[in-house]
Amino acid sequence: MKLFIDTADTEEIQRAAAMGVLDGVTTNPSLIAKTGEPMRQVLTTICELVDGPVSGEVFSTDYDGMMREAQALAAIAPNLVVKVPLIPEGIRVVKTLTEQGIKTNVTLCFSPLQALIAAKAGATYISPFVGRLDDVGHDGMGLVEQIVEIYGNYGYETQVLVASVRSPMHVVEAMRMGAHVATVPFAVIDRLLAHPLTDLGLARFIEDAKKIPADDR
Ligand code: E4P
Repeated sequence: MKLFIDTADTEEIQRAAAMGVLDGVTTNPSLIAKTGEPMRQVLTTICELVDGPVSGEVFSTDYDGMMREAQALAAIAPNLVVKVPLIPEGIRVVKTLTEQGIKTNVTLCFSPLQALIAAKAGATYISPFVGRLDDVGHDGMGLVEQIVEIYGNYGYETQVLVASVRSPMHVVEAMRMGAHVATVPFAVIDRLLAHPLTDLGLARFIEDAKKIPADDR
């Protein structure tokens, strides 16, 4: 499963990329606004920092506006993926961009039917928002399971990108369900590797290593 980071903060991206296992980045208008920097500049920097796909989202909600913004976003770098909201005009945009060979990430997915329509339009990625579903008492990961099954049933090539991840368990479940990607905030990425038994075990090894003569190490 691919691991993306869900942030527009270039410091966080650099820290996550330093481990050498980061496959891509997702942003959204809220994350871009938090940086206080111009969107184009932020996305250009991120595309230079990371080899893999970087999602940048359109702001408009009408076809012409979204198409104009999508073309400008796609021109930033070859690894820029245009993020489009799951609304009827957005689906038209995805269809056109797919015909033009531009990669898309269809965002704000909350139902399997929405996911089906996005795949039929040729979306590269579908982003079910699991945390936001959990927040309103629905089963976020249950939606991921349904989409993976449905896409498998019909051979859709759209990749399932688990979004709105709030905990390491979301990532574990995503892997078990066969999702293609999980996009994870920095705070959660930090916790993916952590285990108290690893820290305890390492502390003991370091202590015991001191008993081995220096010329034998
Ligand atoms: C996905 O691409 C979105 O940027 C993101 O995962 C939304 O997460 P949130 O619900 O934590 O805002």
